[in-house]
Amino acid sequence: MESRIFIFTGKGGVGKTSTAAAHAVRSAREGADTLLVSADMAHNLGDIFQVEADGKVREIAPCLSVLELDPYDLMREEYPQINRTIGNLSGSAGLGIERIGDSFMIPGLENLFSLLKIRDLYLSGKYERIFVDCAPTGETLSLLKLPELLSWYVEKFSPVGRFMTRALTPVAKLRYHMELPDNAAMDEFGQTYRKLLKLQEILKDPDITRVRLVCTPERMVVEETRRSYMYLNLYHYAVDSVFINRVLPAETGNDFMDRWSRIQQQYIAELESVFTDLPVTRIPWFAEEVQGMEAVEKLCDGALSDPDLFDRPVREDNEFYTPIEGGYSLTVRIPGAEQEQVRVALHELDLDIRIRNYVRSIPLPGVLRGAEMTDHQIRDGALVVSFRLRENRETEK
Ligand SMILES: Nc1ncnc2c1ncn2[C@@H]1O[C@H](COP(=O)(O)OP(=O)(O)OP(=O)(O)O)[C@@H](O)[C@H]1O
Ligand SMILES: [Mg+2]
Repeated sequence: MESRIFIFTGKGGVGKTSTAAAHAVRSAREGADTLLVSADMAHNLGDIFQVEADGKVREIAPCLSVLELDPYDLMREEYPQINRTIGNLSGSAGLGIERIGDSFMIPGLENLFSLLKIRDLYLSGKYERIFVDCAPTGETLSLLKLPELLSWYVEKFSPVGRFMTRALTPVAKLRYHMELPDNAAMDEFGQTYRKLLKLQEILKDPDITRVRLVCTPERMVVEETRRSYMYLNLYHYAVDSVFINRVLPAETGNDFMDRWSRIQQQYIAELESVFTDLPVTRIPWFAEEVQGMEAVEKLCDGALSDPDLFDRPVREDNEFYTPIEGGYSLTVRIPGAEQEQVRVALHELDLDIRIRNYVRSIPLPGVLRGAEMTDHQIRDGALVVSFRLRENRETEK
């Protein structure tokens, strides 16, 4: 069985939870084993289905289970050594370590533990489809860039880190009054690192993970949706659909609402012109909140009846190398990116692409070792970076 993961993201309050829930209901109705999981600390799956949800998987309808993840519980129960190590550091000023009961957390890493849990659930093979309801965009983007960022750090520093741990422990205790991780903890760090690598592989595989953007037809939301599409592409996530929620009918029979409807039409047209290569689905604005199974089913029937809802194609040309004279070029599709905002730097075999505070570090293939970066340009929504191989390398062959 091919399991799939669908991640829903968008600005606060646009309807991520409602849309994710409706997808899950549709999936379960097809008889596929479905899990709807919330990685948003401000959970509302329990709310929307009016059930008790408390960190355990709950089957709420045939084939449909829901789970609200609590990273603090996960930390204590599944990463006891890491929890203990962080706990030991919690007395050190300036680290800002947070504590809830017996759980400790480095601020900013909460969501990582939720993602690692989603990886475990995926690998358990129990679910055909996993729908992930995320926190609003900013947090989700920092969440999605985490696995890559952390893997990079761990890879660069872990052997050294381990050596330092052994060499420095007694000194560190004396000088800094802190406990460095012991061997048991380092093993758990090691395992967690391996999990992190696998998580990355799962999240970046378009045959497994798809990201779906949820938005509403409003100016600020349109802007944010464009930006997050750009960043998601930068990090090489496969975005396969856009949902415009809260769409008013064209004729409402009320002047005031008709005017709003016309404003909406303008932003819908803009969204459709930006996302020309993605299916854009409109979800009507209902007269009541999306609460309770019946309301979720209504959303599902009203907007998500597409036969290929779970089977959307994605582009396969998001990142590729092309041989050019004297070297290679690397093309990275980043729709919406502009020449002036993109910074590119080559560090040995890593190519860093930076847009504002988002940096993607792409490990280059060995053939480009020692190559020189000669040019980078945005062309048709893609960044094209050219590399010239060193002369002697060519003549060596
Ligand atoms: N199409 C719709 N028609 C009517 N009400 C809606 C619609 N979509 C969402 N709502 C209501 O709007 C509110 C916000 O929706 P929802 O919780 O799905 O958004 P969210 O993006 O998950 O929010 P948050 O960022 O807070 O997690 C809820 O009360 C929901 O019932
Ligand atoms: Mg929500």
